[in-house]
Amino acid sequence: MLNQTFNQSRLPIYNALKNYSLDGTTSFHVPGHKQGKGNPELEKLLGADCLKIDLTCMEDLDNICNPVSVIKEAQDLAAQLYGADNAYFLVNGTTYGIQAMIMSVCEPGDKIIIPRNAHKSAIGGIILSGAEPIYIEPEIDDFLGIAMGVTPETVAKALKKHPEAKAVFLINPTYYGIASELQTIVNLAHAFGKPVLVDEAHGAHLKFDSRLPVSAMEAGADLSASSTHKLGGSLTQSSMLLHQGDLVNPQKVKAVLNLTQTTSPSYILLASLDIARKQLAEKGEKLISEIYDLSLWAREELNKIDGLYVMGEEVLQQPGCYAFDPTKIVVNVKALGLSGFEVEKILRKKYQIQVELSDLFNVLSLVSLGDDRQSLTKLINAFREIANERKVKNVFKYFIPLPEIPEMVISPRAAFYAEVKTIPLNESEGEISAESIMAYPPGIPILCPGERITREIIDYVNILRKENAELQGTEDPEVKEIKVLCKDIAYVEKTDIANSSSHIQAI
Ligand SMILES: Cc1ncc(COP(=O)(O)O)c(C=O)c1O
Repeated sequence: MLNQTFNQSRLPIYNALKNYSLDGTTSFHVPGHKQGKGNPELEKLLGADCLKIDLTCMEDLDNICNPVSVIKEAQDLAAQLYGADNAYFLVNGTTYGIQAMIMSVCEPGDKIIIPRNAHKSAIGGIILSGAEPIYIEPEIDDFLGIAMGVTPETVAKALKKHPEAKAVFLINPTYYGIASELQTIVNLAHAFGKPVLVDEAHGAHLKFDSRLPVSAMEAGADLSASSTHKLGGSLTQSSMLLHQGDLVNPQKVKAVLNLTQTTSPSYILLASLDIARKQLAEKGEKLISEIYDLSLWAREELNKIDGLYVMGEEVLQQPGCYAFDPTKIVVNVKALGLSGFEVEKILRKKYQIQVELSDLFNVLSLVSLGDDRQSLTKLINAFREIANERKVKNVFKYFIPLPEIPEMVISPRAAFYAEVKTIPLNESEGEISAESIMAYPPGIPILCPGERITREIIDYVNILRKENAELQGTEDPEVKEIKVLCKDIAYVEKTDIANSSSHIQAI
């Protein structure tokens, strides 16, 4: 079957859905809206054609838990496109792919080397698997106030110090588009016999233009989780997990996926992965290179505006920044005397522009498949007007660095399941957190479960709150209260660490 399937113009899932919905079959199966008839308002909203293909697993359509026909063929086509041995379609986002990667290589108590600026889904994977993170520190750009990549030296040091670690986890590229020296790190990890797992949530487009950072599969990584929905053109929530090589057992990956994967996947999402893969295979190089060129032009125009600085190639001279993706346009607005959050709000309210995210100093706009000169001109003009209206330039609103990475006292899983009490965040200095805190987006925890809360973190979170950033992670939706460990439990855990050299340590 494989040989006939390597025809990238085929659409196995989409065609199976079309055949089923056109052949006059009367349905006595779920979903209960019976292809739209049972919910006219929903049908009106989404369209009759869409609801006709809102089906789930059955013989004609294969089964995601054990694909043998159309899903298998579509996954094989995706694997071939990305240069992987196996591809797994995901309908619960890359979050689920990241959790599956970690659970495929780590059992409870196993160590994993992971940058501390990993997305919350990776911390979730660590809690679920019971793995113990060996956090490595990413390089920090103090001017931009953002975490960059990790250096091969940092990874090498962690591998030497923790030869028992089961895997190395990397982000390629970061939300802000920064890529570490992936190929070198993969070679290094492989020399230690360790698989490399890559969060490629922001990298579904990388392999289609050689000017972009190298993709995980091209660099020889063992697993990568890729948000096709973010930059590959499929529907929200649809992603892919890619696998290659012998260091990770694909049967284990499949078994792990089947632990938490829905048994009723949306075929609308699956078909969108199929169609996105076909588009990328047939036109990816042309489309992505157009977007790349468009981004270069937009960056140049934005950089001409007094008071703005667009992060560009100059960051490549810094450690931890081996390559960068110019389609992620990071505009530093520090010199306008405004925070990134404020500029995001002005763009939204006054100019009807919604960017991807902002932080204290920057605004991130993503350029992707649907963009053109017109959409980018609107963005550039809005930034120009905002900057021109700021008469006084170079009066910075904030001068605060990112808080230092806090001490990890016990593992995230131990903290998550520990006995806890809830206290005001402002009074939590010195306590051990049982929760995460993050601004969303980007969803990178400022504090993780198991870490000691510092005054610096509390102050930083308070500034984010003042700036109306979307804060998340605690049970308290306002993040004014936090769950911390009851003292005696923390003490017992600490004693354990002191007695056991193999326990959790940050390097
Ligand atoms: C770096 C990173 N990893 C993982 C994810 C999770 O991806 P998804 O939203 O597809 O679950 C995100 C989402 O924003 C992300 O930014």
